[in-house]
Amino acid sequence: MNRERQLVGVNSYTRELGFYPLERIRVRAAQGQHGAWLDLCCGTGRALLQARPPTHRGGRRNRDPLVGVDLVDYFDPIPGTDLPVELVCASVTSWTPARRFDLITGVHGLHYVGDKLAALTGAASWLTDGGLLVADLDLASIRLPDGRPAGRALAGALRRAGFEYDPRQRRISRTGRQDLTLPYLYLGADDKAGPNYTNQPAVNSYYEPL
Ligand SMILES: C[S@@+](CC[C@H](N)C(=O)[O-])C[C@H]1O[C@@H](n2cnc3c(N)ncnc32)[C@H](O)[C@@H]1O
Repeated sequence: MNRERQLVGVNSYTRELGFYPLERIRVRAAQGQHGAWLDLCCGTGRALLQARPPTHRGGRRNRDPLVGVDLVDYFDPIPGTDLPVELVCASVTSWTPARRFDLITGVHGLHYVGDKLAALTGAASWLTDGGLLVADLDLASIRLPDGRPAGRALAGALRRAGFEYDPRQRRISRTGRQDLTLPYLYLGADDKAGPNYTNQPAVNSYYEPL
């Protein structure tokens, strides 16, 4: 499992996401917003640590941390005590942040999460107004009780809930926070589903449409 993507370069967030995450943060800060970044399923947290957020801004302590969450405590060490980076060992489906974020990323992490839709609705509620969520998501891994992919009906429900899905990149995104529920009941997950489009073993998630 590739847990060590860097911020930029060949094996990097910038390459996978198609944009430089810090540029997004800077734009938000320039708009008078905060500039906080949450990385779901962050792996080692290397990209966040390489972002090196300033400890102080405008003479004050920087209160916009970069936060990474991962199920496995396999984090790179945080250099110094002042760096505003937090790496949290928790499942993205049970953890809740105490703040909102201008950017939320999920780079090849949802493939391994059981309740993928809960992770998406949670992340939508943690955005700032105008904040951006971008995550790799293979819709084929979201299945109905009979094993068929939830397919177009799910894509439609996500679109109506304000998400955009790019089937070519297999990437989901949304702009702006919202508390929402999707009309699907989580039934469980299959962690023996085999490789997905990344050629890595992935998890299929099962839902009953409501
Ligand atoms: C392929 S790695 C990607 C790591 C990182 N985003 C990167 O690109 O370097 C997937 C990560 O998802 C994490 N993960 C799987 N299920 C999770 C969950 N329910 N909550 C949080 N992290 C999870 C794994 O521990 C692993 O570190």
